Amino acid sequence: MKRLFYVLCCCICYAAHGQTAKTDIAIIPEPVAIARMPGEFVLPKNISFGTNAAAEAAPVIAYFNQHISKATGASVSAAKSSASTISLTLNAVNESAIGNEGYRLTVTPKEVSIHANKPAGLFYGIQTLLQLLPKEIESATYVPNRRWTIPCVNVTDYPRFQWRGLMFDVSRHFFTKAEVKKYIDNMVRYKFNLLHMHLTDNEGWRIEIKSLPKLTEVGAWAVKKVGYYGTFDPPKPEEPRNYGGFYTQEDIKEIIKYAQDRYVNILPEIDVPGHSLAAIAAYPELSCTPEASTYHVRSGERIMQWNGPKYSAIIDNNLCPANENVYAFLDKVITEVAALFPFEYIHMGGDEAAKNFWEKSDAIKDLMKRENLKDLNEVQSYFEKRVEKIVESKGKKFMGWDEILEGGLAPNAMVMSWRGMQGGIKAAQMKHDVVMSPTTFAYIDYMQGDVAIEPRVYATLRLNKAYQFEPLPDSVDAKYIKGGQANLWTENVYNMRHAEYMTWPRGFAISESLWSPRVKKNWPDFFGRVEKHFQRFDVADVKYAPSVYDPIFNITTTNDLSVKLELNTEIPGLDIYYTFDNSFPDKFYPKYTAPLIVPKEATQLRLITYRGDKPIGRMITVLVEDLNKRATPKK
Ligand code: ACM
Repeated sequence: MKRLFYVLCCCICYAAHGQTAKTDIAIIPEPVAIARMPGEFVLPKNISFGTNAAAEAAPVIAYFNQHISKATGASVSAAKSSASTISLTLNAVNESAIGNEGYRLTVTPKEVSIHANKPAGLFYGIQTLLQLLPKEIESATYVPNRRWTIPCVNVTDYPRFQWRGLMFDVSRHFFTKAEVKKYIDNMVRYKFNLLHMHLTDNEGWRIEIKSLPKLTEVGAWAVKKVGYYGTFDPPKPEEPRNYGGFYTQEDIKEIIKYAQDRYVNILPEIDVPGHSLAAIAAYPELSCTPEASTYHVRSGERIMQWNGPKYSAIIDNNLCPANENVYAFLDKVITEVAALFPFEYIHMGGDEAAKNFWEKSDAIKDLMKRENLKDLNEVQSYFEKRVEKIVESKGKKFMGWDEILEGGLAPNAMVMSWRGMQGGIKAAQMKHDVVMSPTTFAYIDYMQGDVAIEPRVYATLRLNKAYQFEPLPDSVDAKYIKGGQANLWTENVYNMRHAEYMTWPRGFAISESLWSPRVKKNWPDFFGRVEKHFQRFDVADVKYAPSVYDPIFNITTTNDLSVKLELNTEIPGLDIYYTFDNSFPDKFYPKYTAPLIVPKEATQLRLITYRGDKPIGRMITVLVEDLNKRATPKK
């Protein structure tokens, strides 16, 4: 009786507290509802799956097997429902509350069961289940003597948005087929369902187009340069053009199949009319500018002039909207792209098309007269409308970056809003579908901490800011906001480890903004879970940025022209130790408690954060010369 009373108390307590009682649970993105129940399920050595939908559940079971067999040594088999360890059930009657991607997961001491309307829901139930297992499940090698326990829970879960994307720029630097698959492996853990592949840009054309072989013979190859993109000298003619690569159509099919088995759609982007230097290097006749015949694929030398939101091109990297051959070219490209990719949309870019070369072109002037186009935005709009027609003629839907609004939006276009939310709001008010991917919250090519420690990029997006991403503005009809995505541009991302560093943990924040109910978002709770996922990534050998543990700098100049340094941290509970004497600080050094005046003759500041008596941030060294440069004059 006493025991029964205890169990009942536990049940009431667990059910009542829901979120707070799940201390051993750290699911990202946070489920719609999760209740910790007493007890745990122990995963046996021989795991049998029972399912009422063998064919549909097969990829889910294969995924689970692949994910757990190395660490546990367990074997996985399909079995009759009655004898199963884990049962996967497709609902006979659709349960509308959980939609196409939702699931119900129940773990009791005796069994694990997942119910869903569609296989994608079973897959997401499995993702949650994997996150309930100990972090060692992420090991690529056998972990001996481990009890593989799963806390008992009742979970009901489904996504807030249908479009939960990550964009991977494989043009600026080429990433192999195996690396793209690895990127997909990590994104699906966090219930992303769309990979946007930025396949073409000034720095490389990455997809085989059989009818236009020079796109990859010429357009996929640049001279290798290492350092900060945008600062390089132009390559010399004798330097080898052997840096780059492309996906054959067979590679693309393999990536698509790999993604499909993980319930991920692949959105191809062919970025035109701007960002097209690789295509122009291959086929110079696509440009309005005669000198295009001397152009090469870019290696990171300066080709644009940026002046705030205004920009101009130093060399003409635009396709020519006044040239009929351009539309014939795009017809060929889109025909092959449409045949390869099953996803309903093709993204046709449209961003940052500088107009200064068009302005000088007689062909463009003639086009404007003929078509009654009053300015160069209308010239781009004319181009986009024609491209939309080509895309639609291949049975696909057209979308582009928010610049396609300028000069008049093509009739059925979906808009991907990147220059803030404004373009998306405007498009939604015009009854067009929208995906939100604003620089302010979702540009994961930006630095995630101070430039003193991060690889330099021109802007910063910290984890807590990414977590504030709210894709649905109050002022629009929710039905037009399909979801959102984070964008990883790779000008300064040279390898896969750094791609992972840039994506995580901000990808966690974006996934929660896209999947979890708005009311469940909670920064302290989220960050607690992030730290658990850092541990999982440590076991999985996936790189992530620890930038959130490093200090935030605010550097100013005092009235007597000294440099004043205020330090802060993104999360509470950290201590900062510092020195100006060139030695390496630890917890026995001065602790930062109030703004510092930089000693006039010091040459460098070093600092490090601790949590309690353990170092947690990175050792940071900043030259006083750099602090002086960064100091903003006191107003
Ligand atoms: C973009 O970031 N240029 C879309």
